[in-house]
Amino acid sequence: MFRIQTGIALAAILAAGQVTVPRTLPRFGGNPEAARIANPSARTPESVAAGKRTYQRLCVNCHGPEAKGDGGGAGGGGQPADLTDDHWDYGATDGEIFSVIREGTSADMQGYADQISDAEIWNLVNYLRSIGPRK
Ligand code: HEC
Repeated sequence: MFRIQTGIALAAILAAGQVTVPRTLPRFGGNPEAARIANPSARTPESVAAGKRTYQRLCVNCHGPEAKGDGGGAGGGGQPADLTDDHWDYGATDGEIFSVIREGTSADMQGYADQISDAEIWNLVNYLRSIGPRK
């Protein structure tokens, strides 16, 4: 219910063209607008460690201890993504990954905007980068 109301409010704001804080929704295949959101948080050891703690608290049940997508906690039938490969259904940039975590994509992969701050989400992005494939 809350998500539906949020969606309606968001649609109304977008329709009025009055977006002040951009909330860019993830799109399957990637979202160029989300890709432009710059990661304001340097990938320091502190940021990565903080992201890892949040990951273990909120994400490990579904995405698994190694983030291979093998946590098995998804109840809605969706397969949790492997977050360590170089395959990103919603785009591979920091900004796109941020928008997935912030806004969510499905009943299983909910948005975390109400639970954690943007700064914590960037720490998560930095953690996922630290365990992902080397560029
Ligand atoms: C209840 C199970 C569940 C939890 C908890 C969960 N996820 Fe997910 N996640 C999923 C599923 C299922 C998908 C695939 C969704 C889709 O394809 O729409 C997914 C997809 C993703 C993606 C997109 C990967 C891609 O290929 O683009 C990212 C990034 C992600 N999750 C990160 C996280 C993070 C970070 C957390 C913790 C804050 C988290 N997830 C918590 C189930 C979960």
